Amino acid sequence: ARTVERGADGVVTVGGLPVTRLAEEFGTPAYILDESDFRARARAWRDAFGTDADVFYAGKAFLSRAVVRWLHEEGLNLDVCSGGELTTALAAGMPAGRIAFHGNNKSAHEIERAVAAGVGRIVLDSFQEIVRVAHIADRLGVRQRVQIRVTVGVEAHTHEFIATAHEDQKFGIALAGGQAAEAVRRALKLDGLELIGIHSHIGSQIFDMAGFEVAARRVVGLLAEVRDEHGVELPEIDLGGGLGIAYTSDDDPAEPHEIARALREIVGRECASAGLRTPRISVEPGRAIAGPTAFTLYEVGTVKPLDGLRTYVSVDGGMSDNIRTALYDAEYSVALVSRTSDAEPLLVRVVGKHCESGDIVVRDAFLPADLAPGDLIAVPATGAYCRSMASNYNHVPRPPVVAVQDGSARVIVRRETEEDLLALDVG
Ligand code: LLP
Repeated sequence: ARTVERGADGVVTVGGLPVTRLAEEFGTPAYILDESDFRARARAWRDAFGTDADVFYAGKAFLSRAVVRWLHEEGLNLDVCSGGELTTALAAGMPAGRIAFHGNNKSAHEIERAVAAGVGRIVLDSFQEIVRVAHIADRLGVRQRVQIRVTVGVEAHTHEFIATAHEDQKFGIALAGGQAAEAVRRALKLDGLELIGIHSHIGSQIFDMAGFEVAARRVVGLLAEVRDEHGVELPEIDLGGGLGIAYTSDDDPAEPHEIARALREIVGRECASAGLRTPRISVEPGRAIAGPTAFTLYEVGTVKPLDGLRTYVSVDGGMSDNIRTALYDAEYSVALVSRTSDAEPLLVRVVGKHCESGDIVVRDAFLPADLAPGDLIAVPATGAYCRSMASNYNHVPRPPVVAVQDGSARVIVRRETEEDLLALDVG
């Protein structure tokens, strides 16, 4: 579905539009998002899971009103994890019943808004929250559909900051020591709650299905315990998000239909052996849908060769539009996209314009030795967790998101201005 091509003049086009024109019209840096690719990926997930399972796009990866509309049109649901994401989802017309509300520290006000809006599920993350949501639902006179998030004790092989199912971290309620079973006990007693299932999210940027397999087995184990103790078969399980994408050519992600088949098989098998009806499965991919659909377009500013080391290529953005390299040691690739070059490849480090040496966008890459100020370079796979984690460090306004499709481009998130920043200052 991707529409990125390189013309004979070396200029890369996306959605039929040359990046040189996009840079002229929208400026740099800019996130250039391929709308048909986004929609195609969303559809692929929805089709892979079919009508007896649900796909909730994880809005934290990248959310805007346009994205919410695309998801709605393509038949996906939406996972939000803050009042701000909830507001965007509702403002863009996502039916509340198709929204799941997450978070380890939802405020009473956020919970109240979610319950009042009628969100399809709230994912409970602690014992205190079980009571908190039940009280609010009582007060509003509704029975809120909820899931309980459990930590299954899996070490996902990913960066420490984005692995979530091992025990020593802030999310969920541990299966170990009967904690999750106790949470179910409490939730089942509260009139304000309709406990519809169990939730597990083991981490992010994962390639190995083994972690999901262990998680599914343990969650089904809990469902069996619940049946034995309460005579209730909880109808749903959510296995979270976390499927990895290719940031460099070394990564080899699975396709949604392979993931769907594997999850169905695991859950089906485990339920059969426990004598349970197979619950409705849901998943929450964020990165796998949004990540590959955008690249960041930068203009080269200065090129500084350091003898015997490498060449530092400075671009007009940096850690404020892509914090992932600095934060997770993430790997990215980069390409010259505004012309051809026969020059030999040169070892470079692509860095930003911020006032610290950790401001690295691409740690190690090769670019042509004749790279010069004014060249445009692109960093692929920045559709997830780049705009959504962008900051105003050094009072740098955040870049726009430009959606391209079939030869036309439109801004779906506008560029911030220095006036926007100044307007926050009082006095
Ligand atoms: N569901 C839950 C409950 C989550 O916490 C997350 C991600 C997802 C779904 C979506 O995961 P995905 O499919 O996108 O991997 N900022 C980090 C990633 C943090 C992910 C947090 N939770 C990064 O840039 O890699």
